[in-house]
Parts: sequence; C-alpha cells; structure tokens
Amino acid sequence: MPENFFTLGIETSCDDTGVAILKNDREVLCEYLSSQIKDHSRFGGVVPEFAARKHLENLLPLVNAALNEAYIKGRDLNLIAVTRGPGLMGSLIIGVQTALALSQVWNVPLIGVNHLEGHLFAPLVEAEDLEPPFLSLIVSGGHTEIIKVEAFGKYELLGQTRDDAAGEAYDKAARVLGLKYPGGPEIDRLAKLGNSKAFNFPVPLKNSGEIEFSFSGLKTALLGQVKKFQEAGQEIPVEDLCASFEKAVTDSLISKINLAVKLTGIKRVAASGGVSANSALREALSAQKNFKAWLPALKRCTDNAVMIAMAGRNSWTRGNFSGGPVVPDPALHEI
Ligand SMILES: Nc1ncnc2c1ncn2[C@@H]1O[C@H](COP(=O)(O)OP(=O)(O)OP(=O)(O)O)[C@@H](O)[C@H]1O
Ligand SMILES: [Mg+2]
Repeated sequence: MPENFFTLGIETSCDDTGVAILKNDREVLCEYLSSQIKDHSRFGGVVPEFAARKHLENLLPLVNAALNEAYIKGRDLNLIAVTRGPGLMGSLIIGVQTALALSQVWNVPLIGVNHLEGHLFAPLVEAEDLEPPFLSLIVSGGHTEIIKVEAFGKYELLGQTRDDAAGEAYDKAARVLGLKYPGGPEIDRLAKLGNSKAFNFPVPLKNSGEIEFSFSGLKTALLGQVKKFQEAGQEIPVEDLCASFEKAVTDSLISKINLAVKLTGIKRVAASGGVSANSALREALSAQKNFKAWLPALKRCTDNAVMIAMAGRNSWTRGNFSGGPVVPDPALHEI
C-alpha cells in the first residue's frame, strides 16, 4: 500500500453528479456536487433520461476540476470508485462507463460500489471513533432499513420498510400539501413553524415487535386531513400538518432503532441517507439515552461522491478487487 493513497469517487445513481478525491481513509481533498433539483422540480420528480443527459454534461468537467483542485494527475490516482447500483440505469451507465474509460486511459484500478454501502459510510467520514459493531439506519429516498454492521463488509439486514421509504413518504406528503419537490427539506422547514401535537397521526407498526417500517398509511391519513379542510372550505394548516407528520415519521424511526438496540445489545447507531438531514430526526437521535448516534454532515446525507470513495477504498483494503469489468446494476440491493 503506497504511503499516500488517492481515491477518485464518482456518484451518478440518480440526479446528483458527484465527484470527490479522498486521501487515505477519510481525508477529503475536494468534493463536487452538481445537483439537478432545479431541472427536475418543474416535473415534480426525477425524469430518468434527462438525469442521464445531465450526468453526461457534468461528469468530466467535475472530474477535471477535482483533479486540478487536489493538484493530482489522473495517472497518480490509486483507485477509482464508482457507484454501480442501485439506481437509474441511464444514470449509472454514464458513471460506470466514464469510470471504466478513465481507469483504462490512466491505468488505475476500478472498483464498483453499492450505493447503499456508500450511504452507510457517510457518517464515518468525520467519525474516527466509530468502529463496528454498530447499527446503521439508512433513511433515503428509496430505502429505509436498519443494518447490523458486524465488521466492514459483514452486514446483516435487520429490517426494512414494507412499502414506501421515509424520503418517499416526505416527498408524497409534500405533494399532498402542494409543496415543491423534493418535499423533505420543505416539510422540515415548515414543521419548525408548526405544532407537532396539532394532529395525532398514527405511528405505523409502533407495537409490532418487529424491526419493520410502513409509511404509506401515514400519507393516506395526511390526505384525509387535507380533504376535511378542503371540504369545509377552510384554510389548510400546512405548518401544523408538516410538524405532526414529521413527528409521526420520526417517532417510528426512533422506536424501531431502539428496538434494534434492545434486540442486538449494540448501543452505537449511525444514520445516513437524505432523511438523516431532517432536523427533528437529528435532534431525536442525538437526545437518545439508550445509544450514541453518529450523523453525517448535512451535505453528505443525500447522494455524494465522498461516501462512494470511502466505501470503495475500504472495500479495496479488504481485498475486494476482481480486476473484472464493473457492470451497472439498477436493482442491486443486498450489501
Ligand atoms: N431535511 C429533510 N427532511 C426530510 N427528508 C429529507 C430532508 N432532506 C432530504 N430529504 C429527503 O431525502 C430524499 C433524498 O435522499 P437521498 O439522496 O439519500 O435518496 P436517493 O439517493 O434518491 O435514494 P436511495 O439512496 O435510496 O437510492 C428525498 O426523498 C428528500 O425528500
Ligand atoms: Mg441515495
């Protein structure tokens, strides 16, 4: 292993083009993110073909900018880590194909990273004191799961959502309330102005005794409340609804992570994914007495390339390099 090991991370699984250069385990030399949120918000969600075109436009200029900022030449890299799935096929192909080409031209090894393992590493970037075993709560746009990290590379899925992911629930709730896309940050902002006890939304599966989530019923309950106000010709109390909805989602996540702590005896919890940026969840996780929580920096809750570089570099040090081609897999799941 060279004294200084440089990893180029590339993330293009959905609508964010991310590029980062990592020195050794976790020193971030530079990180770039080109968000497409403004491009997609007028459609109310991500348009896959459009996302792929934007990655094509953005990726190589970002790689060049990152190398310039880090004063590194492509040939001096030790590893390229690229997200290979899960995600949108068109978006993944742009990242993987670009990474393959760069790896061949520069003669640098390439490793494919599972996007979820990437999220799992996001809180570790700043947490030198977090070592396995720990529990990982991944709460993103497409996933809500609790994973037991026995060792890096040794993961056990303890439970997940039966239907919608937490981020998806926020986005759907925002649509019901007529808020802009993506809904999570909007609900977070408005909830701060509302009363979380104004509406008593049911906390899904709270007493099921299983590590599992369900958020689709919560959206229906919200829709029911909105309709009541509409039918009565009354103004919709958006702030109170946001605060009460956010409380129900947060209570569900907190109750199940506490259950996982109880069942495993592991008192260390790392959260990640877009919903880990949520103020109420961050506050609740940090206030828990039964476990200690680690959270990613706000900018690394949603998709980014630093987490991909770190997961790729960690996997590489565990000897996971076949030398074979990296193939995009939109349905890749188990990590
Ligand atoms: N402050 C916030 N509060 C609640 N939800 C949030 C907040 N910020 C972002 N989100 C939600 O996080 C989601 C995006 O997160 P992320 O980028 O990790 O998901 P994704 O990459 O689309 O999904 P996956 O990683 O599962 O493929 C969106 O659903 C968004 O509404
Ligand atoms: Mg993601």
